[in-house]
Amino acid sequence: MQFADLIVAWQKTHGRHHLPWQKTRDAYKVWLSEIMLQQTQVATVIPYYERFLATFPTINRLANASQDEVLALWAGLGYYARARNLHKCAQTVVSDWQGIFPRQAQDIMSLPGIGQSTANAIAAFCFDAKTPIMDGNVKRIFTRYYGIEGQTNKREVEKRLWDQAHENIELASKDLDMPAYTQGQMDLGATICTRSKPKCNVCPLQASCYARRENRQAELPTPKIKKTIPVRSVKMLVLQHQDRILIQQRPEQGIWGGLWSLPEFQSEQELLTLQNDWQQTRQTAIKLAAFEHVFTHFKLHIQPYWLKCPHLSLREENGNGSKQQWLPLDRLETTALPAPVLKLLQGVHQFSGMEDLPGS
Ligand code: ADE
Ligand code: SF4
Repeated sequence: MQFADLIVAWQKTHGRHHLPWQKTRDAYKVWLSEIMLQQTQVATVIPYYERFLATFPTINRLANASQDEVLALWAGLGYYARARNLHKCAQTVVSDWQGIFPRQAQDIMSLPGIGQSTANAIAAFCFDAKTPIMDGNVKRIFTRYYGIEGQTNKREVEKRLWDQAHENIELASKDLDMPAYTQGQMDLGATICTRSKPKCNVCPLQASCYARRENRQAELPTPKIKKTIPVRSVKMLVLQHQDRILIQQRPEQGIWGGLWSLPEFQSEQELLTLQNDWQQTRQTAIKLAAFEHVFTHFKLHIQPYWLKCPHLSLREENGNGSKQQWLPLDRLETTALPAPVLKLLQGVHQFSGMEDLPGS
């Protein structure tokens, strides 16, 4: 048996069969799952996926939602461009495709936020298209099995991997089960051909695997050169009035685009200006514990300051024109807050319940 047929046979007996998105061939649901699974683990995705579909059971309902509602359901999953693109994509399917998800991989790929591999996965899962996938799992299996050297984000290596992926489908039996083959590669990568300690002795590919034969599993795929990522620092203001916190919406561009976060500043001097702005607050802000949040391309060092405010007022004009609101602390979980900001405010919620707040 050849590569693809071996994986299909293995998938049917040893693969995963009860993931929520395997119960359906509805392209909307499969698409949603694939986007959520792009940078997030299965166990984390499952409750988000269920909640998302309970709120937006059809692509029409998603298209008609506000971006705020979509972001609120995404809050905590990270990589928020995925959520903004998801929303745009639903609107495009409704406006350009009469609300029916396109069937051809090339058409699927023309939609916002969908790359070649994701488009191919949707086409294979839902429409039995003979289109290969090429995600991190597949790259790991292929580089080991075929002994492909070089960093997998290099153009020529990437091309070799894709060529191999197409060839594997051509060489497979004519009735290759594409959903099982696609899922099988993901399952094999997640459970057998894992990054460390792959379980070669139970792998369906062991008989002809290059890395197993040469004992080079640990060297393939060729590690990417790790750049040390820069650290950015920001100070955040937790401005509290009774049981409410002032939050403001972030600009569309940049990190946490469209999410609700805290006012930011760079220096304590700037904090004093902010404090004056917030009407006669003479108390000093309390420095809370600083912490770090790691993004793909940089690390963010966050120094929060906590300040109580005697008045409920909003600055409509705060320089960048962003919207502000006073958020009740018991609504934290249903608001589109970035994960580290949510954690910070949950902490504030806990300790602010313990003492008698001046100014409240
Ligand atoms: N990762 C990406 N797609 C997946 C799927 N369909 N099942 C499990 N993990 C995945
Ligand atoms: Fe991966 Fe080992 Fe299977 Fe080769 S034999 S594909 S290294 S698990």
